[in-house]
Amino acid sequence: MANKSKFQAIRGTRDLLPPETALWNHVEQTAHAVFATFGFGEIRLPIFETTELFARSIGIETDVVSKEMYTFYDRPSEEQASKIFEMPPKTLTSGGEFIERKEKEAFQRYQSGESTTLRPEATASVCRAYIEHNMQQLSQPVKLYYMGPMFRRERPQKGRYRQFYQIGAEVLGGADTPAIDAEVIEMVMTFFDRLELTGIELDINSIGHNAPDCRPAYVQKLKAALEKVKDQLGADSQRRIETNPLRVLDSKLENEQPIIATLPRIADHLCDECKAHYAAVKRQLELRGVFFKENWRLVRGLDYYMRTTFEVTAQGLGSQNAVCGGGRYDGLVELLGGPPTKGIGFAIGEDRLILSLQEIGKGAAPQGRDVYIAWMGEHAYAAAVRAAKDLRRAGFSVELPPTESKFGKALERADKLRSRYALILGDNEVSEGLWTLKTLADGSQQKFTEPELLEYLRKQKALSS
Ligand code: HAM
Repeated sequence: MANKSKFQAIRGTRDLLPPETALWNHVEQTAHAVFATFGFGEIRLPIFETTELFARSIGIETDVVSKEMYTFYDRPSEEQASKIFEMPPKTLTSGGEFIERKEKEAFQRYQSGESTTLRPEATASVCRAYIEHNMQQLSQPVKLYYMGPMFRRERPQKGRYRQFYQIGAEVLGGADTPAIDAEVIEMVMTFFDRLELTGIELDINSIGHNAPDCRPAYVQKLKAALEKVKDQLGADSQRRIETNPLRVLDSKLENEQPIIATLPRIADHLCDECKAHYAAVKRQLELRGVFFKENWRLVRGLDYYMRTTFEVTAQGLGSQNAVCGGGRYDGLVELLGGPPTKGIGFAIGEDRLILSLQEIGKGAAPQGRDVYIAWMGEHAYAAAVRAAKDLRRAGFSVELPPTESKFGKALERADKLRSRYALILGDNEVSEGLWTLKTLADGSQQKFTEPELLEYLRKQKALSS
């Protein structure tokens, strides 16, 4: 039970504590191992970047950019500072104008790049790094992955935090061959499989591309169809008909579902190239034995996507059930000032992944100690210190109490710490050269010489792993 002290973690943030952090480490190590088998290398990125990088990449009308970013001005002048504190950065409108007074000036600063934002995602940063380090000169495609905290000012609830963690990967450069889309998706599913995350569903879709005969034509049709049913939609969807009609398809509102079901579907309006690409992605997934469900409503909430989009949902997460989202974003590097470059990737919500693993009983973090050393006496202490060193070197977790206590008390504590064995070391044991090892689960005891003991524990460990 948390104690209500004066200082508490800020709403939407939290401490991750042992033993749960062992599970986080296990998940991250599995990602390192699985992604390496697909030829991905790790990239470590800054936590903050210029605001414009995210505004341009993700899109100014998206929820992330318009409402959820943690933005501040890095080292403003005193005069700037006094203005900035009066100005919420969220009053930007579709035309790039500010609704309220003086704020035009703030927009200019915002554009000039002085404004800084805690990263809400990392795809934009990876693209920035690709350009900055001339990675187009490397052998293509470049395959990168990352993990770390992201920040979005959303309403906190189960599986939704303001500081959350993502594990993501991006493939940049090379061709837009459907095999790449399929391999990226195969990698995510292999990772989940390695973690024994069961009960997940992979949804895929294609949202076409920006040529006039593809998505824009579909969006026109969609908009026209939405206008006709406008009165039956809620305020959010009504607003989105103007700002981003595709996002209406995302609605979870019960009463809007029958209306959405009648809307035109993008798969029926893709251009020939996108249609062929989508069909090939599906074939490639089948070839790899990856099960998927087509979901024509999967449009994703960030503006940079084109063609393939995908999402993985997991059990036990309530409404925040997406554990992974991704897709293709071929225009993004160019939009950020780089050369024309293909791109596809995904990000896994690590917090949600952990919750889901716990929910299905795969979240038991290893607990306790291998060996608790119950020692009494000066000679015994010297032997105990030596034993602890040797056992730890051999990879065992060891609790060596700093002060001596009666064996009864020591065994109680060994139990409390969920130790597997207690090594009993009194001055007698030390002078005899025979040490007593007690198995706490059944109370049995055996005597060993020092080298025998290490050998015995090694064998037991090998047997149980
Ligand atoms: P996204 O769908 O915004 O995509 O986020 C990916 C995942 O991050 C979500 O599916 C969810 O599991 C997790 N997530 C997002 N917001 C929160 C939150 N507030 N609390 C907890 N978990 C959250 C992206 O971020 C893209 N950059 C993915 C991508 C990479 N697309 C291409 N490459």
